[in-house]
Amino acid sequence: MTAPAAVRFTETDLDAIAGTAGRLAIFVTADGKLDAEGRRVNRLMRGGLMRLIEGGGLEKKKPGDLVSLGWPAGLTAEAIDVVVLPRNASVDESRRAGVALGRAKGDKALTILGGSLKRAGEVALGAVLRGYDYTVHKTGEKTEPGTITVTVRDAAEAEAGFAPARAAAEGVFLTRDLVNAPANDLTTTRFAEEIKGLADLGLKITILEEKDMAKLGMGALLSVGLGSASPSKLAVMEWQGGTKGDAPLALVGKGVVFDTGGISIKPSAGLEEMTMDMAGAGVVTGVMRTLALRKARANVVGLVGLVENMVSDRATRPGDVVTSMKGDTIEVINTDAEGRLVLADLLWYAQQTYKPRGVIDLATLTGAAIVALGHENAAALSNDDALCDAVLKAAKTEGEGLWRLPLGKGYADMMKSRIADVKNSGGRPAGTITASEFLHRFIQDDMPWVHLDIAGVASVKAETPYAPQGASGWGVMTLDRLVREMFETD
Ligand code: BES
Ligand code: MN
Ligand code: ZN
Repeated sequence: MTAPAAVRFTETDLDAIAGTAGRLAIFVTADGKLDAEGRRVNRLMRGGLMRLIEGGGLEKKKPGDLVSLGWPAGLTAEAIDVVVLPRNASVDESRRAGVALGRAKGDKALTILGGSLKRAGEVALGAVLRGYDYTVHKTGEKTEPGTITVTVRDAAEAEAGFAPARAAAEGVFLTRDLVNAPANDLTTTRFAEEIKGLADLGLKITILEEKDMAKLGMGALLSVGLGSASPSKLAVMEWQGGTKGDAPLALVGKGVVFDTGGISIKPSAGLEEMTMDMAGAGVVTGVMRTLALRKARANVVGLVGLVENMVSDRATRPGDVVTSMKGDTIEVINTDAEGRLVLADLLWYAQQTYKPRGVIDLATLTGAAIVALGHENAAALSNDDALCDAVLKAAKTEGEGLWRLPLGKGYADMMKSRIADVKNSGGRPAGTITASEFLHRFIQDDMPWVHLDIAGVASVKAETPYAPQGASGWGVMTLDRLVREMFETD
């Protein structure tokens, strides 16, 4: 797995600044105030920093923006990154400052002179998250990311405070690796092996094979993988960090390792992107890793459906009728609307088996989510305002875009089938909502449920707030925070 850069904390030492190698980050308030470390740097540079500030070099800079000075006289460092940031900057501002530092850093060592900051650890986390680089399939020499050193008033306290952030970064990096992995590398079998490896962290892992799922009557999930040489699997990750016997939160993820569309085949332009169609499962797996690493005091169960939607003589045809574990029959109008077939059985199985207190599912479910919200926001749809508001709040704090869309009977009616209980496609209008209403059928009465359609945010061609191009890991930090705020408030 791609390893996050090492982060260590040391106590502020003004006399060590002159001889520090690599890059040095210092912080200046919007009104041009330097802290003690900044003043020392300024003195070593014979007033060079004050000239930058007084000369207007930081004008029009927003919190988190930076100006880099190369090869500064009077210092061993090869660059000074001057970051504009209030001393009590918010979590998001602090992380974004770290992102700017991470971008400038490359694989160099970075020392963050953070003695006066309230959230120096968040700055380090931003730098770590932006420092991700997927090099698994690049040959040639691989460079290690340089260490990030943060100077603070109390190193032991800062180190302890950073442990959950480090766990979050580990989860995000696992998710990004899974989502970036090509489909001939990350097959259903290999994905299940990765999940089995998490048992080392204290997670209880169960894998259901095709024959197990057939016995349970999961005709919807199984219909999706019929055309693939890779066997369909259902993987369960259980974290029991809370009170024994307390109902868990269930996290459910769509894990289509590749989506050709099936017989309703997709056009070839951009088809290579469908290697990310397992992102829901990737996020669930990443969060479970984070929760286990930070020993969350909560009961959470993660369930992922691992399938491949291929074209073959055995593949499901448009017009076929399949029977779900719940018993509802589904007319497969479009074999490209496969994610909801996987989730139908996964959601039902999650509720029947684990009697959760709430269910959150994540899926790259509809192109319509991209039409509606682009790559800025994922879509949330829910039958429970309290749970949905908690997810929206967590997403806001973590700086991960999320916007709620409505559900409604009129949308559910668009999924009526002439020959079966329901059909799997309601056509183009309100595609994200009709897909959600299809899922809603498989949610038991009174079960709090939030569906997150992450089609637009899971893997993005441009940089996102915390990630370079490609897989973003969207949702790992939001769900980690949600678990903390739902279960771990005492
Ligand atoms: N995996 C796709 C959705 C998707 C599209 C994810 C683009 C990420 C980027 C999903 O399985 C799909 O094909 N959905 C169809 C549904 C339609 C046939 C009702 C879609 O959105 O076109
Ligand atoms: Mn599809
Ligand atoms: Zn899909």
